[in-house]
Amino acid sequence: MDDVRAVVTGIGSCLPPDVVSNDDLSKVLDTSHEWIHSRTGIARRHVVKPGVSTGDLATAAGAAALESAGRRACDLVLLATTTPDQPCPATAPQVAARLGCAGVPAFDLAAVCSGFVYGIETASALIRSGLYETVLLIGAETYSTIVDPTDRNTAVLFGDGAAAVVLERGSATTPGAVLHTRLGSDGTRPDLITVPGGGSRAPRPGPDGPSTYFRMEGKEVYTRAVATMTASAREVAETAGWRPEEVDAFVGHQANARILRAVAKRLGLPRERVVCHMGEVGNTAAASIPLALSWAASRGDLTAGDRVLLTAFGGGLTWGSAAMTWPQVRPVTALEPASPAL
Ligand code: UT7
Repeated sequence: MDDVRAVVTGIGSCLPPDVVSNDDLSKVLDTSHEWIHSRTGIARRHVVKPGVSTGDLATAAGAAALESAGRRACDLVLLATTTPDQPCPATAPQVAARLGCAGVPAFDLAAVCSGFVYGIETASALIRSGLYETVLLIGAETYSTIVDPTDRNTAVLFGDGAAAVVLERGSATTPGAVLHTRLGSDGTRPDLITVPGGGSRAPRPGPDGPSTYFRMEGKEVYTRAVATMTASAREVAETAGWRPEEVDAFVGHQANARILRAVAKRLGLPRERVVCHMGEVGNTAAASIPLALSWAASRGDLTAGDRVLLTAFGGGLTWGSAAMTWPQVRPVTALEPASPAL
């Protein structure tokens, strides 16, 4: 078992076609392109049309990843998301059925912005245990359905999108191997990133009850994100036996370019190895790391065998990092979310 690893064999993505620029937002909110771009690196984000769901994006991204891997099926579907199609049931079984994988186990994984890295460790452990051969891991979000459009502290930050990877059984020397992962959580500050109403604690909040919109204490999250991502990424790189200067690509959760550059500086990683994709898509929570990977690979910024360090921090609080090599893979892009009839 020691040499057995989960290996990424395919990657696919789906961004909804509609784009909202910072200038568009400054027409309806007290904000500006200058403020948003200088504080975050974000210039625009994709948003779904009303009625298009996380499951629609996840299905399109999942189909693209399976095509990229040259697979028609998988034996487990994991969907990392904060914005499921409904509170009950989970969205993953519907995605599996729409992909023609009906009958395989499928479940949602809720770790907010760390969801994809949580999924990487989960998929990796299940493959290494011998229980599963081929896992489809999808990160998909429609934050436009939970942000308060009148709250400039959050409305300018988030976007919708989905991306997915296929993981299969391989060895540590196969390009694409997940070499080491480490996760963490601190549940003492759930208030820092939260949708306070609508769950079992406040199921049907009235006008004066807790909000059913997303809320974030940005400044406090910023400080904790830099410190925690730095420690987590350093630990995982060292356990993988990598010195920071040996990392070819640093792909952190795409919340804020300033956070990623601050983490890279503390790790001693050159700025040009930091993948920054938030300019085009904003913060897409659980979808952000696979979207950034897919984008960087499509541009030729990732080549087979590259040492890639992933790290995430988000609501929960949760965090995690993963050290992997980049596979020989052709990313596939779905141009439209899947229609519910698929
Ligand atoms: O996805 C989960 C992880 N999330 C993150 O990692 C996000 C972490 N946090 C951040 O990225 C940053 O804290 C933000 C981008 C959210 C905010 O940047 P900041 O530099 O920390 O700004 P701030 O919150 O300290 O706000 C500075 C000022 C405030 O005005 P005053 O109080 O100084 O007069 C805000 O009211 O900027 C104001 N402000 C805005 N101004 C124009 C806040 N939002 C906006 C806005 N446009 N959209």
